[in-house]
Amino acid sequence: MSVPEEIRELRAEIGRHNYLYHALDAPEIADADYDRLLRRLIELEAQQPGLVTPDSPTQRVGAAPLESFDTVPHRVPMLSLSNVFDDADLRAFDQRVQRMLGMEDSPIEYVAELKIDGLAVSLTYVNGPFTTGATRGDGATGEDITQNLRTVRSIPLRILGDPPPPLLEVRGEVYMTLAEFERINQERAERGEPLFANPRNAAAGSLRQLDASVTAERRLDSFMYALGYTEGVDVDTHWDILAYLRGAGLRTNRTSQRCDSIESVMGFCHEWHQKRRELPYKIDGVVVKVNSLRLQGDLGFVSRSPRWATAYKFPAEQKATRVLDITVNVGRTGAITPTAEMEPVEVDGSVVSRATLHNEDEIRRKDVRIGDWVVVQKAGDVIPEVVDVLKEKRTGEEQEFFMPVTCPSCGAEIVRSPGEAVARCAGVSCPAQLKEHVWHFASRGAMNIDHVGESLIEQLIRRGLVRDVADLYYLTRDQVAGLDRMAEKSAQNVIDSIEGSRNPTLARLIHGLGIRHVGRHVAKVVADHFGSLDALRQVSEKALSEVPEIGPTIAQSVAAFFGRPETDELLRKLSNAGVVPQQLQKVEAAADSPILGKTFVFTGALSSFDRKEAEFLVNRLGGKASSNVSRKTDYVVVGDSPGSKHDKAVELGITILSEEQFARMVGA
Ligand code: IVH
Repeated sequence: MSVPEEIRELRAEIGRHNYLYHALDAPEIADADYDRLLRRLIELEAQQPGLVTPDSPTQRVGAAPLESFDTVPHRVPMLSLSNVFDDADLRAFDQRVQRMLGMEDSPIEYVAELKIDGLAVSLTYVNGPFTTGATRGDGATGEDITQNLRTVRSIPLRILGDPPPPLLEVRGEVYMTLAEFERINQERAERGEPLFANPRNAAAGSLRQLDASVTAERRLDSFMYALGYTEGVDVDTHWDILAYLRGAGLRTNRTSQRCDSIESVMGFCHEWHQKRRELPYKIDGVVVKVNSLRLQGDLGFVSRSPRWATAYKFPAEQKATRVLDITVNVGRTGAITPTAEMEPVEVDGSVVSRATLHNEDEIRRKDVRIGDWVVVQKAGDVIPEVVDVLKEKRTGEEQEFFMPVTCPSCGAEIVRSPGEAVARCAGVSCPAQLKEHVWHFASRGAMNIDHVGESLIEQLIRRGLVRDVADLYYLTRDQVAGLDRMAEKSAQNVIDSIEGSRNPTLARLIHGLGIRHVGRHVAKVVADHFGSLDALRQVSEKALSEVPEIGPTIAQSVAAFFGRPETDELLRKLSNAGVVPQQLQKVEAAADSPILGKTFVFTGALSSFDRKEAEFLVNRLGGKASSNVSRKTDYVVVGDSPGSKHDKAVELGITILSEEQFARMVGA
């Protein structure tokens, strides 16, 4: 196949997978296979740069930063919606619609949709390719944010259709998921940057970047729900529009529902008011639209809102409560996070008694004091947050918060580096940090070790059985069974789960290492790009920063992490425990191992290995480690001040190895 042909086929195939993934929510291939197609296309386009087109799936980022945004006129104005706040309002809306249409006796068909809390955008496609993307602006003209919208994966760079319509203006919402919002705020807190108040502001801030590479680092998402000006699109109802958009490869919200009466719309509103916290993004209500486009036309507009639609707004969840104390929590990187301990209060279905105050500066900015009455809400409906201090309720008894000087967990000094908002525990072996670290390592998104929960980790650390994450792999069933509230069976489960995690993907392992600024996504990017831990051990900050999606902060952090001797030590210990990322297994296979089937006994103190480690190493390479010397022993490895096992080996004429000889033999 010629290169231009292969390029064409790859684009079509990638386009199809984008459609399956984003529009239909039904991917057919694994992310890794998709990435492979994309990489192949990048490679071919590099060979033939003349064939690169702006709608190629490789062209999502890369534009130079702008000086300012141009303005774009909307061919059809972008309207806003009237609001209703309860069922009575909604019924009144329906009655008005019926009256104006002269349809008092027949129920109106509506479409009810979630009101996504993001930013309205308009996308223009001309004969297929995405040409312009704009904000709503004043409704008549918006800002040209094409470069930024190109970075949103669910916005296709080319519309599907055979042939695609000559002109298509699509309207919808760009938003940020709650998970992404949390990730970004956490990063910002660590860098001492001001936090985004909610996912909507975060999405807005991201779309208003003059440098699209910044937008690309914030993973935004989209749902399309309307048409603007179009040529060559034939639809009769709003429901048809949604089906059309989906077929064209755009992402639509699957919860949208056709309702045969306002009662049914009301049911939808109540249902989603209840269920809204199950969603991975924030909604602030339900949008209700008359389904028939003909009836929509008959109803028309009033000022800048259509008469055929309205927004049913959910009430905001806020409660007042008292701050009983401000405590500090030690994170995995030693970050000390002040937390408001509050009089428990029910906010929207769950009891809130703690809320993070992020850092000292945030506390000063909000002026939260111990004893204050505050207003709490759930940011993005999930994470409790102090939004306001009721200063008028102060009695004068309130106390200001001061950061403790020593770590509550290990007593080491707490330091705040110049320019950083975050104070950190300077302790090198702080149990609180270790606990968070192990917990993170074992978590679902990282090594995915079941049965290893908080209280187990606490005990393991308290008893000195776990001093770093690698120690998990050296635990025995008896050690675990000796812990509080631990039956034999559960101990076995713990050990089995740990065992079962020995061959994670490289991305999971990297994520689990808990490198600052490296979350799940970045871990995957790094893993895909470098392919092995060995490659990462030698990687330079420069090489890292050249990887797409890796900014300077991440590059610096990753390079520093892998450059540390403690990291080397930890990786060696993990590898010796048989923790080998999947990609590397083949290399490590024991087929041509020099010690296959050989039995080893260790005696005396080893200086460069821990005994357990050496035993695992032997096992992994297909040998056997035993604790007794017998005629079946092949080698006895002697360390410092060996005991009777050494004598016995001499007596039986068994080969004796020094630690160095052993190390050479196993290639360690
Ligand atoms: S339709 C003429 N549908 O809500 C109708 N809007 O307050 C225009 N929004 O500016 C909007 N989800 O940003 C519509 N499913 C949805 C929506 C939605 C969120 C936003 C949109 C609009 C605002 C109106």
